[in-house]
Amino acid sequence: MSIPRETIDLIRDRSRIEEIVKRYVPSLTKRGSNYVGLCPFHKERTPSFTVSPQKQIFYCFGCQTGGNVFSFISKIENLNFPESVRFLGKLVGIEVREQQTSAREKGIALLKKINNIAMNIYKQALFSEVGRSALEYARERGMDDKVIMEFSIGYAPADGNYLVSKLMAEGVLLTDAVKLGLIAPSAKGNVGSYYDRFRHRLMFPIFDISGDVVAFGGRILGDGEPKYLNSPESDLFKKGAMLYAFNLAKDSIADLKRAIIVEGYLDVIGFFQNGIRNVVAPLGTSLTAQQLDLLSRYCTEIVLLFDADDAGIKASRRALNIAAEKNVEVKVAQLPEGDPFDYVKRYGIRRLMSVVDTAIPPIEYRIQHVIAESGKFSKGKLLLSLFRIIDEIHFDSEKREYLKKIGHMLDIDEKIIISDYERYREGRKKTSEKVETKKSGEEIDYLKKCHRELVLLLLSHPELIESAMMDFSAEAMTDTTARAVFSKIAQLYSEGRQISLDRIFDEFPNGEIHDFLERGLEKSFAVERPNEAYSEIYINIKLHLIRGKIASLLNEAKKYGNNVPTELLVEIESLKRDEEKLVTYLKTR
Ligand code: CTP
Ligand code: MN
Repeated sequence: MSIPRETIDLIRDRSRIEEIVKRYVPSLTKRGSNYVGLCPFHKERTPSFTVSPQKQIFYCFGCQTGGNVFSFISKIENLNFPESVRFLGKLVGIEVREQQTSAREKGIALLKKINNIAMNIYKQALFSEVGRSALEYARERGMDDKVIMEFSIGYAPADGNYLVSKLMAEGVLLTDAVKLGLIAPSAKGNVGSYYDRFRHRLMFPIFDISGDVVAFGGRILGDGEPKYLNSPESDLFKKGAMLYAFNLAKDSIADLKRAIIVEGYLDVIGFFQNGIRNVVAPLGTSLTAQQLDLLSRYCTEIVLLFDADDAGIKASRRALNIAAEKNVEVKVAQLPEGDPFDYVKRYGIRRLMSVVDTAIPPIEYRIQHVIAESGKFSKGKLLLSLFRIIDEIHFDSEKREYLKKIGHMLDIDEKIIISDYERYREGRKKTSEKVETKKSGEEIDYLKKCHRELVLLLLSHPELIESAMMDFSAEAMTDTTARAVFSKIAQLYSEGRQISLDRIFDEFPNGEIHDFLERGLEKSFAVERPNEAYSEIYINIKLHLIRGKIASLLNEAKKYGNNVPTELLVEIESLKRDEEKLVTYLKTR
């Protein structure tokens, strides 16, 4: 199901962003050429939420959220891109007709249908005679019938032919069921003979965001290996891109602006059973950046609540590393024992929620962690690792708070630990001055910065694109983000399509590039003289390349000692002249 581009464009042209936004932001008022109001995405008293009718974009200087009219709808209504197009279409009176479904999409729909049939077979089995022991097991573990129904839990009978024969009776093509990992061809090699992959297991269907079954997790009843058998990845099921129970949890996550991430299916179920619904779990793998991205579109705070064992600690630390790059606040809650499912059964939901509420920020968690493991280190080494963590904190007042805390934990006087830290910083400054001279990493960063600025400038001032197509090429860009955006601009340009900052968001509805564009909106309000900005970027890049070239030629020249070939000298001289010209040009503008 995809929406024809013309329809998208029609809807965009028909919707004036300032009017759409005004429906949600009553405080929106005209100021100069823009509109300003109180941001609907974060709490504020003075308006920093800005809408540009000319550019058809919005941007909040407070929380750095921004985008075009579709992104606005998608953020405020919690919809994905096609959903927000349809939503806006309704608002402005344009009917959205789906394009003919492709063969691939038809294939996916069929696979979903088969999974759905299998789910119903498993569900029926759980509540019939064959599933008696499984139902008993589920109840014994503490699941009530209501939650069993809500999560569509079922049972795969022990008989290795149960699903195969039921699927056949339903007219399902068995080769399709094989693709889904529901059944497998018999090893004996009997042509056309299959057996059930899930046998004597409690079946947890895994749903995608729109509630279609895309996989199963099957738990063995009692002890045994593997404890969980999961569906293999397929066209439907991409483990790293989805979360268990997200379809059920997403509204609550959006309402509360907070998500709790637990390790297991049962942990999620334990919360739901007790009325807490903003809970999800990864799918048998560690948390991925994609999963965090997904959540961060719905909430501003994520609490990690993993099992109280070594695996849980490792998982938390790994998750924190990934989350450091993301635009969400992540905190870590630590259970005193077991996992959330057992804990809630034993102590009740209030006590479990009080554990969630004592979640601590990553810095504090890492400090605790380093101290807990410090048996192996000398005190000096321990302080050094702690100071490295403190270094990452941005604000001095906060640094001091944490230093105090550390002092408290290690029984070191506050003044002493603060002066230790200051001495450590002094020492570090000196060493970093020494290594100042080597900075190839920085050079790459410089070009990256220029190219990124360039593409943002082009998007907010498309009249510059024509020159840019001659002055720059995507291949020369080392930064993948800038390159992807530039290529997209070049492609749209060659197709003769209209290009603008607001339109480009549709090409990158989410992910890293989307975030980059979003951050870039801030600048787009600020550029006053686009032509000059353009030539400045152009010259800076050129200058940078020339200087690089000069440096490498000088290096080469060194090899010749006193007998540098004349051609080399001439080349260096001419490059130096170019360099000078560019520098004077920059200065006299
Ligand atoms: N998991 C898996 N395969 C395994 C073991 C675990 O995919 N062999 C995944 C499952 O998603 C499981 C999660 O890791 O839900 C957490 O594992 P664990 O804590 O061992 O299981 P619980 O969900 O707590 O289930 P139970 O209480 O029945 O042990
Ligand atoms: Mn567990």
